Amino acid sequence: MAKVKTSFYCQQCGAQYAKWQGQCSSCKAWNTIAEEVISTDKKDWKTTKSKSKQKPILVKDIKYQQEPRLLTQNKEFNNVLGGGIVPGSLTLLGGEPGIGKSTLLLQIALQLPFKTLYVSGEESQQQIKMRAERITTSFSNCYILTETKTQQIFKHIENFEPEIVIIDSIQTLHSDYIESSPGSISQIRECTSELIKYAKESQVPVILIGHITKEGSIAGPKILEHMVDTVLQFEGDRNHVYRILRAHKNRFGSTNELGIYEMQGNGLREVNNPSEILISSSKENLSGTAIAATLEGMRPLMIEIQALVSTAVYGTPQRSTTGYHAKRLNMLLAVLEKRAGFRLGAKDVFLNITGGISVDDPAIDLAVIAAILSSNEDIAIEKNICFAAEVGLAGEIRPVTRIEQRILEAEKLGFSYILISKENKIADKKYHIKIEKAGRIEEVISFLF
Ligand code: TYD
Ligand code: MG
Repeated sequence: MAKVKTSFYCQQCGAQYAKWQGQCSSCKAWNTIAEEVISTDKKDWKTTKSKSKQKPILVKDIKYQQEPRLLTQNKEFNNVLGGGIVPGSLTLLGGEPGIGKSTLLLQIALQLPFKTLYVSGEESQQQIKMRAERITTSFSNCYILTETKTQQIFKHIENFEPEIVIIDSIQTLHSDYIESSPGSISQIRECTSELIKYAKESQVPVILIGHITKEGSIAGPKILEHMVDTVLQFEGDRNHVYRILRAHKNRFGSTNELGIYEMQGNGLREVNNPSEILISSSKENLSGTAIAATLEGMRPLMIEIQALVSTAVYGTPQRSTTGYHAKRLNMLLAVLEKRAGFRLGAKDVFLNITGGISVDDPAIDLAVIAAILSSNEDIAIEKNICFAAEVGLAGEIRPVTRIEQRILEAEKLGFSYILISKENKIADKKYHIKIEKAGRIEEVISFLF
């Protein structure tokens, strides 16, 4: 019998150790290192006889036939994948618990025109039926299997021959070849590699659900992301209705696409024109709000920024943000204080990006500043003005990328003015929307107030 080999792995970051230790030297987490069985009979490559018939081959001589992608009924999902599911691919859908991963994939599975196998290790068949009934009334070609042992799953697959397999979730699977418990690093690695082998051999695409840890990485760490072809992330604030699906890695397409969904009582609805819902429809001009033309991936998105500036009740003024970096807010406040003479040091400043979306795009800086000033002065900004520019430390208005796309989106939604940096070179004649260019904060202030 082969000697059983064991090794120690950090359950959080996947680092490997020869012996147990209390703290992982790599990610500094305590008590995360566990012993796992690895049955490797390593031999020298020179002494092992190669059975492989593969030889190096010139790129130009490689022949391949492009197989058509499998299209789901869900347009946003197809888009994010780069135009449908590639046969034989392994896709990982990650997201926090309760964000709607099972709902999204079940919804897609129920509408697929192919023979679909939905394997769940998390819920019973009755629970899935209840969920399915919430989502739709027509259950076409979708079969449900509740099983967690990979060997059993493959046995079912062999008899059943599905055209697409969905696994909910990778953390519940376990393989007989490995002794550690489900969800441990070596189990996840083994089960994923078994699934990859199956997908590549049979050309049946497999979609996996993976949970995400508090820190935001897919539990059963980075190794999983390396192994699969595509990593999708489903994110959003659980208390808000909007969810964003984006590709973090895609071997068959770009990672710039993103899909937006709205969680409703009967499943997830695709949002085709997100800007319209993110901007409040009230006609009334309120002080402290400004609209920014941002980009989420490749997609232009108009978002509303709300600021509240009030006199600090306690000695130390509060700064609080939702959906925006607090450090960036502090920086912009310092710029306002220094360059525009606004005394905000004794004021509380609250900033909120509506819709529960968080934005990294620096192009919203100018809208943030406008919202703060508007709240501070208690003068509303006209509803037909929007902003797209970064603000620098010297108070200069800096250009942003893809300005034309932003302008077009603003124009489409009926804005009359867009404020951009004067460094952004564009021909403004071809637009109906009026393009206002500014070089410094002072110019923006005199334009607005
Ligand atoms: P779920 O798909 O179970 O999340 P995950 O698999 O990512 O853990 O979805 C969880 C939430 O979605 C749950 O709190 C209820 C809500 N939900 C709706 O609002 N509408 C629906 O139609 C469904 C099926 C779920
Ligand atoms: Mg689930």
